[in-house]
Amino acid sequence: MTDRILVFYGSYRSDRMGIRLADYIVAGLKARGGDVELIDAKAVGLPLLDRMYKEYAPGSAPPALENLASKIRDADAFVFVAGEYNWGMQPGLKNLTDHFLEEWFWRPAAIASYSAGRIAGARSGLLWHGTLSEMGMIVISSTLTVGPIAQALSADGKPLGEAGQFLDRSFTRFADDLDWWTEAAKAQRVRKKPPY
Ligand SMILES: Cc1cc2nc3c(=O)[nH]c(=O)nc-3n(C[C@H](O)[C@H](O)[C@H](O)COP(=O)(O)O)c2cc1C
Repeated sequence: MTDRILVFYGSYRSDRMGIRLADYIVAGLKARGGDVELIDAKAVGLPLLDRMYKEYAPGSAPPALENLASKIRDADAFVFVAGEYNWGMQPGLKNLTDHFLEEWFWRPAAIASYSAGRIAGARSGLLWHGTLSEMGMIVISSTLTVGPIAQALSADGKPLGEAGQFLDRSFTRFADDLDWWTEAAKAQRVRKKPPY
């Protein structure tokens, strides 16, 4: 069956650049046959965390939260597009992920970091690795690091020049790795029902 993959992106800035990488990944995974959806934290618009999804009585969570919980539960794999603000994570994406916990469990997650400079958001990627692991995901070892993002991707998410070619080559390995773990986790969830 087709893999259902959610791609998360969380910048709220008017002139945001990371959407280029999110669009590139969505298109690349779709081209490989995935059933892929971009989850844009700005469009979802959750408020700063008050109650986690599971802290609402069944059926009483706000619609945006209920809708996203069901998408996360139905997904086979996740990709996190991670920008870097002052060596840290983007707050919009962290706020969205913190609303959930068990909904994330037993599925692989891949991290694609980017920034305006050559470090390509790697420090944020490192932070996300620990956080996603704490939230019960299998964080795959392949990463994408894109920087400077303006030199690698056009406004419509198409690869540019040498940096874009490098991204295309890295993407194949990244997607192959995610695919392997997605299949493995799917098979294991069928073989042995997750304990919670
Ligand atoms: C508040 C803020 C802090 C930033 N801190 C870093 C940083 O620590 N490292 C870095 O490489 N770029 C940093 N940048 C530059 C970002 O990489 C660049 O603006 C990028 O496009 C941000 O992602 P976005 O456009 O999707 O919001 C920072 C940008 C902002 C707005």
